[in-house]
Amino acid sequence: MSRTINVLFLAAEADPFIKVGGLGDVSGVLPRELRALSNEELKLDVRLVLPYHPAVKAENLRPVEIFSIPRGDSEVAVEAFETTLNGMPVYFIGGEPIRANGSVYSLDATKDADKYAFFSLAAMELPKHINWQPDVVHANDWHTALSLYVNLTKRWESGSKHVAGVLTLHNLPFMGADVSAILESYGIKLAQTDLPEWARVLPLPLGLWASDAIVAVSPGYAGEVLTEEFGCGLQEFLGVRKETLSGVLNGIDTVSFDPATDKSISINFNLPTLKRRAENKELLQEKLGLTRNPNIPLLAVISRMDVQKGVDLAFTALKNMKRIDFQAVILGTGDPKLEESARELQTLFPDKIKAELRFDAALARQIYAGADMILMPSRYEPCGLAQMIAMRYGCVPIVRAVGGLKDTVIPKETGFVFEKAHHMSLVSAIKAAMKVLPDKEKWEALQRNGMAKDFSWEASAREYLKLYLSLVK
Ligand code: GLC
Repeated sequence: MSRTINVLFLAAEADPFIKVGGLGDVSGVLPRELRALSNEELKLDVRLVLPYHPAVKAENLRPVEIFSIPRGDSEVAVEAFETTLNGMPVYFIGGEPIRANGSVYSLDATKDADKYAFFSLAAMELPKHINWQPDVVHANDWHTALSLYVNLTKRWESGSKHVAGVLTLHNLPFMGADVSAILESYGIKLAQTDLPEWARVLPLPLGLWASDAIVAVSPGYAGEVLTEEFGCGLQEFLGVRKETLSGVLNGIDTVSFDPATDKSISINFNLPTLKRRAENKELLQEKLGLTRNPNIPLLAVISRMDVQKGVDLAFTALKNMKRIDFQAVILGTGDPKLEESARELQTLFPDKIKAELRFDAALARQIYAGADMILMPSRYEPCGLAQMIAMRYGCVPIVRAVGGLKDTVIPKETGFVFEKAHHMSLVSAIKAAMKVLPDKEKWEALQRNGMAKDFSWEASAREYLKLYLSLVK
């Protein structure tokens, strides 16, 4: 007999509709990978719900229905739209609180709280209007965590059927702003929780409290959030919930990120034709205006310009390598101060360092396909996707031993790993890598080991499926 599990998957962003960071990569692929696990006995009907941000790019949107949710003495209109992505239903929730605050994430925490509270509450009303009931609500990060809170508290109030709540943690430090007044305006009471007092009014902790299962995006991060160093004050609370906490490593889109077929790179290659990769390096050097020379080590930073990512450590490390022959390319946008430091670095070393401070997906791929090493000195890293993409393209990662980086990069086998969040530790690791680089055989072994690793989503999706099954029995 066949059975179906319905999953309502909520996220602030999802590729290809709207993408700011790693969350967008994950939400763009995981729901579809889950659906692809369906077979004759079990159908996984996963449906994605996103805010209708003004910047969303979606074709063939059909209006579902206009409904409203009560707020204060009146109500707010919810405009729901529907489309499909490779057969998966995708819904967009629009409305004044989402329009009012254009960008996906703003610097104004209160505005964001307003927008995402509205989104989370409205999304939970959607199933009624599409005649479809979820067995699992799967939220991601603080933006959608309140959906789990209302899922639980409304059930308590109305005695409705149990709908399991899953919360994936991509980034614990971002918990959202005080939503007590917002919740009150929607007629939702703050529950008595065993959260620390300061956390009782914040979306992420409220979602964690209400969820049946918490998933960190790597096993390493699942362990780290229980410690004082990475737990952001919630380590004790999470410790009590330890039984419901697990880690599932993210995958990457191995069809899109494939050096054998990637249309953004000049010379396609795979394991048997790895030798051809060298041409990409020279083309990249030329494109960046660097000296064309296969023997100069070419380092890369492809990242959001953010202290989390330790890009400041990377910049200081490069600055300290005056006497070393190397080239480096920095690609990404973010914190204006860090962008400024990148520009300064380029001014200081005009023949060595190029700062490309923009979002450029094609250039990113050319760098993965041509640079020798990628630097990821993250202060914390729940999972990290760039190291996995880099390995698939034969670009050797130099990473700090944290979270998902530690879980995915094997020292001396697929990359270089260092412990301390200090630029000198990174310099030592870079020097160690540069020592191996001229030894073609050894270096190629590192590249081949990384390229042979399976970072596809299927294994991760199976873990999520196991979790769903344990929650809906
Ligand atoms: C966040 C984390 C990153 C993770 C991504 C996707 O951006 O900082 O480590 O890879 O989410 O889960």
